[in-house]
Amino acid sequence: MSPAVAETATGTEAEHSISPTTLGRVERLRDRFHQIRKFTNSLGAGLEPEDCVVQSMPDVSPTKWHLAHTTWFFETFILKKFIPGYRAEIPEYAYLFNSYYNAAGDMHRRDLRGLISRPTVNEAQRYRASIDSHVDDLLSNTDESLLDEIEPILVLGIHHEQQHQELLITDIKHVFAQNPLHPVFRPGRARHSARAGERTATECRPYQFVEFDEQIAEIGHDGRGFAYDNESPLHQVLVPDFALASRPVTNGEYIAFIEDNGYARPEFWLSLGWMTVKEQRWDAPLYWTKRDGTWWNFTLSGFRPVDESEPVTHISYFEADAYANWAGARLPTEFEWERAAVSCAIEGNLVETELFHPSPVSVGSDVSAETSEQRRHLVQMFGDVWEWTRSSYSPYPGYRAEPGALGEYNGKFMCNQYVLRGGSCATSRTHIRRTYRNFFQPEKRWQFSGVRLARDPE
Ligand SMILES: [Fe+2]
Repeated sequence: MSPAVAETATGTEAEHSISPTTLGRVERLRDRFHQIRKFTNSLGAGLEPEDCVVQSMPDVSPTKWHLAHTTWFFETFILKKFIPGYRAEIPEYAYLFNSYYNAAGDMHRRDLRGLISRPTVNEAQRYRASIDSHVDDLLSNTDESLLDEIEPILVLGIHHEQQHQELLITDIKHVFAQNPLHPVFRPGRARHSARAGERTATECRPYQFVEFDEQIAEIGHDGRGFAYDNESPLHQVLVPDFALASRPVTNGEYIAFIEDNGYARPEFWLSLGWMTVKEQRWDAPLYWTKRDGTWWNFTLSGFRPVDESEPVTHISYFEADAYANWAGARLPTEFEWERAAVSCAIEGNLVETELFHPSPVSVGSDVSAETSEQRRHLVQMFGDVWEWTRSSYSPYPGYRAEPGALGEYNGKFMCNQYVLRGGSCATSRTHIRRTYRNFFQPEKRWQFSGVRLARDPE
């Protein structure tokens, strides 16, 4: 028996006191837990150990760190809390794999994660397997009242791991993008509609503006099912008349902005954005390079010509805002987005498609056969690219962060960031919601972030 579970009840004793209802709950929770853990392992399965230790910039964490940190979360907030006398096999991991939870103790510096060669990738995987087995044992020996306490934190840990699955994907993309050999994460998954030197012109719906009437909208999560604390409390917001584009902006449309010297014309940019363009010498989205007059981009399926029909991605808030100004539109507020998404099903190019890249809206549909009425429906609200909103990431009225370490999950970041909505091609379908609030600083662009235009009434 492992030291971690030595002081829990034995399986036989516990099972006698567990009702069939509790056993069913435990089974469902355990299945979900293992499904999420397995998916993380599968994302790392094609990587070599050398891939898993690189930190290409301070925002990026090595794959190995993601594997271990998500495991640390379960060890810290489940095992240490619910197993009396729990003794960590390797206590030093508490320091090494804490990310930002001050109430959980000291932590290693984020920007130095790439300097850590030990534990090895194999050891990080053994850590995962060991903690999984302890969680299994704990669940097998829980009664209903203990399960009531464990379940919300375990579900939080599952969603936390899904967030890190997305980060693992965007981080390894940044790592591979630094490499002149252009390593491939998943061969042939991303759509490939162009040959070298061709300017691609896959048929794509022109976007339309879908109009919404003024409404007092219910904003935030209603408490049914899981949500992060930053989606609460549910409250009412007056959302005046507005119109929202039927789909996100495409690469082709973004190229028109570039070719109109968008990156060289300060009139479109916020002051901070203009400073960033100058300092960083931006002239295109992240991962784009011009070769012989053609834009190429690095994808998780390799280096290839930019497909003009795909949603533009890897743009910052500053770029999204400048594009909107150039196009005579604006970014939506997060309230407009949430109000507009009320009738949109949660489906689309999410991580389950395993494309790991945004797709054109025309895939799988006969664009020429559509009526203009059909074109006035919102598409791609979920998946493909996160959509920048013009809303600062702020607490909803009445929001209070929980006391303790888990209260640090969201609340302390509510400053100097903007909200993004809808999920991306790296987000899980079971993770995203209409009320989900992602957030990043305005200059960040290594996530799959894009733009959907909005405008005020004519
Ligand atoms: Fe984390």
